[in-house]
Amino acid sequence: MEYKIQGKSEIDNWETLMLLYNSALKEMGTKLEILNDEFQHIHQYNPIEHIKVRIKTSESIVRKLKRKGLDSTIENMQKYVNDIAGVRIICSFTSDIYRLADMITNQSDISILDTRDYIKNPKNSGYKSYHMIVTVPIFLSDSVYDTKVEIQIRTVAMDFWASLEHKMNYKFSHNAPDEIKKELYDCSIMVSDLDERMLKLNEEIHNLARLG
Ligand code: GTP
Ligand code: MG
Repeated sequence: MEYKIQGKSEIDNWETLMLLYNSALKEMGTKLEILNDEFQHIHQYNPIEHIKVRIKTSESIVRKLKRKGLDSTIENMQKYVNDIAGVRIICSFTSDIYRLADMITNQSDISILDTRDYIKNPKNSGYKSYHMIVTVPIFLSDSVYDTKVEIQIRTVAMDFWASLEHKMNYKFSHNAPDEIKKELYDCSIMVSDLDERMLKLNEEIHNLARLG
């Protein structure tokens, strides 16, 4: 996956790199706020429950490149680390996830580099989320850089599950006891069931309120 660069000069220092990724998070944040406001205006509800943004730490970037057998150069960071800038969007309902993904895809200045639907195809652990790697143009004084952002979209229930699973992996250094992994997997089935029932219930409430 090549980093599409439109700038007159290549980014060759850490400070400018961080400026780009921080700006990309601001741009994405504003875009999502606008989409949420417009949605509220048209449909009288917010598809976004809340948003979390984060920049990957330098240690974590270096660790990831090392794992891939690559040197920690600024060029490799841009080319091979897709999640330096990360946005996590938490929605109430699964239908909101696909609505948001479509709205993001339809923005003409955003390019989609990759999408992974771990809702239709959950990971073996039970992990569910919709992932997109996108680029957003960042305008600096004399150049434009298409900057990568990793977007994870999930429901409140999926987020609750992923936080606990993340904590488990951290506590046990990815060697958790089988019974805990099994219990978490079972919970992931309950998460899917809950999301499905809440979506149906929401539709029923909506229809009844419209008729009543
Ligand atoms: P990395 O895992 O980041 O190296 O990227 P990848 O190319 O394998 O992409 P993937 O879509 O698998 O994961 C991207 C991110 O999603 C991770 O960094 C995590 O934040 C999250 N994620 C993926 N799988 C899991 C999982 O099983 N459990 C939890 N809690 N989070 C996950
Ligand atoms: Mg992974």
